[in-house]
Amino acid sequence: MIITQERTIADKVRQDFPILHQEVNGKPLLYLDNAATSQKPIAVIEALRRYYEQDNSNVHRGAHTLSAKATDAYEGARDKVAKFVNAASRQEIVFTRNATEAINLVAYSWGWSNLQPTDEIILSVMEHHSNIVPWQIIAQRTGAVIKYVGLTENEEFDLEQFKSLISAKTKLVSVVHVSNTLGCINPVEEIIAIAHQQGAKVLIDACQSIPHLPIDVQAMDCDWLVASGHKMCAPTGIGFLYGKQELLEAMPPFLGGGEMIAEVFLEYSTYGELPHKFEAGTPAIGEAIALGAAVDYLSGLGMENIHAYEEELTAYLFEQLGSIPEVRIYGPQPTTDGKGRAALAAFTVEGLDSTDVATMLDQEGVAIRSGHHCTGPLHRALEITGTARASLYFYNTKKEIDAFIVALKETIEFFSSVMD
Ligand code: ALA
Repeated sequence: MIITQERTIADKVRQDFPILHQEVNGKPLLYLDNAATSQKPIAVIEALRRYYEQDNSNVHRGAHTLSAKATDAYEGARDKVAKFVNAASRQEIVFTRNATEAINLVAYSWGWSNLQPTDEIILSVMEHHSNIVPWQIIAQRTGAVIKYVGLTENEEFDLEQFKSLISAKTKLVSVVHVSNTLGCINPVEEIIAIAHQQGAKVLIDACQSIPHLPIDVQAMDCDWLVASGHKMCAPTGIGFLYGKQELLEAMPPFLGGGEMIAEVFLEYSTYGELPHKFEAGTPAIGEAIALGAAVDYLSGLGMENIHAYEEELTAYLFEQLGSIPEVRIYGPQPTTDGKGRAALAAFTVEGLDSTDVATMLDQEGVAIRSGHHCTGPLHRALEITGTARASLYFYNTKKEIDAFIVALKETIEFFSSVMD
């Protein structure tokens, strides 16, 4: 009898990612740094190439055919993103350079004009620097006060502490959906409902969730949500801000210039309609179109399918990595079937520096990240200087996890032999 094993998503898609089929340092590339940036499928690379080969022109300006084609494709990409996150309207999607720029947009536009001395902003200690520094700048300018939610014993968002911190003084809660370091999936619906009861607005950093989980901004009821394209199969230089329409309408512009105006006089200017009010200057047209292609690609695979496959990978990664006695993984444990956290593991190896571990693994073709992953305050709270981090995506396989574990064990043996 012939037993045929069911093909996984990874088996089906690996040929779509040309970059994966190469050797690094004489070994097959094993790319496990997906939380830093994902790889790009041919469909996305081709969309960018097609735009520059056939349609390159500025948007919203020309009467000529190429400009109309570029405008249609650029605005078509906005429609795709709006549908992907289930926004109520396409006007609620503003293209930005990345999630960092999207958070700065909200901080400088809404934060600077709405926050007053003694108003409170609640963040968490697990936030990426991009969800801390803009609020520190705005807090310094407005006199608002920042409070931080810490971790439970399980190294997850401390919901009870959040409930004790929030009050009528809280004007904003800005938290990450999935931590790039702890891998925990925060209970954002509950956080949002609690914040709204107190009249606070909520921004969700979805950089590490939107590439891996289905996102529905209306069901979540967030006021703003930000994401970077490059972590979800799109190029760098493109990201987006989702905002509820009435909020975006009430917010003043962030950057001034062409594209965002209705009329300009010497004394004053009037501003364009949403979303153009927030898109000053020539945008990243090709990159936005390629983001649209990435959304098509991910939707074609199905976000539920991606999530289910990544749960399988998570269970396997934790089983394998957890069996190495010198390794300590941060963040919550997944269930035995990989549920409850993201497919990434930030870890330390007893006695070893995380960058030494990553550098040795690179010699074996294994790409992982090391250091503080732009979560310096979290690493300080955990009383560590850095971690090594393996982060997976739907094109990774259990075989790759096996190869990573072999290389990691060899690295530990090597250092233990030279230190003896
Ligand atoms: N913030 C990205 C990471 O987690 C770059 O690696």
